[in-house]
Amino acid sequence: APINATLVVEASKSGPRIDPNIYGQFVEHLGRGVHEGLWVGEGSSIPNVRGIRSDVVAALKRIKVPVIRWPGGCFAELYHWRDGVGPREQRPRGVNRAWGDEPETNGFGSHEFMDLVEQIGAKAFVSVNLASGSPAEAQAWLHYLTDPASSGAGAERARNGREKPFAVPYIGIGNENWGCGGNMTPAYYADQYRQYLSVLKPFGTLIATDANADDYAWTETLLQRALFRHPPGAAQASPLAWINKEPQLGMMSLHFYTFSGNDWGRKSPAVGFTEQDWATSMLRTHKMDELITRHTAIMDRYDPERRVGLSVSEWGAWWEKDKAAPSNLFQVGTLRDAVVAGLTLNIFHDHAERVQMANLAQMVNVLQSLVLTRGPKMIVTPTYHVFDLYQGHQGATRVPVSLSAPAYRVEGVDLPSLSVSASRGEGGRLTLSLVNLRPQDPIRLVIDLQGQRFSSVQGRSLTADRMDARPDFDAPDPLQPRAIQGLQIEAGRLELTVPAKSVNVIQLNP
Ligand code: AHR
Repeated sequence: APINATLVVEASKSGPRIDPNIYGQFVEHLGRGVHEGLWVGEGSSIPNVRGIRSDVVAALKRIKVPVIRWPGGCFAELYHWRDGVGPREQRPRGVNRAWGDEPETNGFGSHEFMDLVEQIGAKAFVSVNLASGSPAEAQAWLHYLTDPASSGAGAERARNGREKPFAVPYIGIGNENWGCGGNMTPAYYADQYRQYLSVLKPFGTLIATDANADDYAWTETLLQRALFRHPPGAAQASPLAWINKEPQLGMMSLHFYTFSGNDWGRKSPAVGFTEQDWATSMLRTHKMDELITRHTAIMDRYDPERRVGLSVSEWGAWWEKDKAAPSNLFQVGTLRDAVVAGLTLNIFHDHAERVQMANLAQMVNVLQSLVLTRGPKMIVTPTYHVFDLYQGHQGATRVPVSLSAPAYRVEGVDLPSLSVSASRGEGGRLTLSLVNLRPQDPIRLVIDLQGQRFSSVQGRSLTADRMDARPDFDAPDPLQPRAIQGLQIEAGRLELTVPAKSVNVIQLNP
């Protein structure tokens, strides 16, 4: 028998705006994330525009990818931007020491990345190098990208084919500087941040490097030492107090991956996993809520006015390495990935007061991708469908909901059986996303719309019989979302059965 649940949607009330950048992406020079996945070169038989493959661009454009983080990841901490500008045939050939010593042609550099971003209609988020770079190198890069052609740096860019300055609104100050980005202590990183800040501040929103999951000390120390130009205690009595009015951090950030347990040692296979693997993956994914809550609580103490955003610069499922995979960290996405994505995006909405950006790791052919390529072929993943279904939430205003449903108990922890998010977007349209975490049980849901009137309702559902249902390059997609039949508002209520292990989006039009 289905589980019963009721949901109250307070459609007349409104919460914070859901920043479209929550739907952001991450691209790194890793496996076929860039080479083949995005960059095929102008001479390729794969249809492309200036070397960037057209099928992938069209797919990403369709779901309105808002922002892309590049060039890494750990790769960013070894990357020297000059290797990737100028005539392509003269660029140095390198070795990707961050990821398997694979050859790096440098064919895809700054101009190609910015071209990709512009073809998609997204914004650029560039991570600068702290571990093997310098503030001067990072500053020169930003001058090169954004200065007018009348300047020396801009003139060089123009000689390399681009007269008009590029727009780089987001600058990441390093990547995982507690690890591959220099093995820094939080205090040392905070001081480094201050130095990079002094030269990069004029260029855009600076995003401080990522706390590793529940490393709350990282966030605390960084805020203590870098939020203001002078530590608050010291400046209060000084004539420099005015300097402390403006926060020096654009955003803090956080990295967190889903496994099928609570640590890197408990990854399940990407396909052919057990129901226990499913459950523990949901448990781990749901931890995102606790992490954001606790990092936010620290931020609230230092920045009660919420001027500093939180960016979850890397998130997604990281399953066991498949020895037969065609490239490094290539994963096949299944229905489980879709549920992980739906749950995570709903959690981001729940924290939209602080979470202003998130970047799925990684956009193409690496970890929990949106699209996969095999030579000239391309398929979209179950995660892609979720991003597509959720488009109505981008830029919409969150609406409060309250759910009453039995919990989904995993390893003694109560998870929600159903994860719900609601928002009001263009023209007052209400979007509801409903994710059933339970692998076996459908949920009979009654939605109370609190007297709000709607003229029409439609919905789409993504589910399958198997937990590891997945698309294949040579077969029709079994996870193509299907219309939900029989949706009807009666006496201000909407009733439906939410299938087991599913992601569903309902839209109600005023
Ligand atoms: O996304 C893969 C890697 O995971 C990134 O390079 C690094 O930042 C993280 O550890």
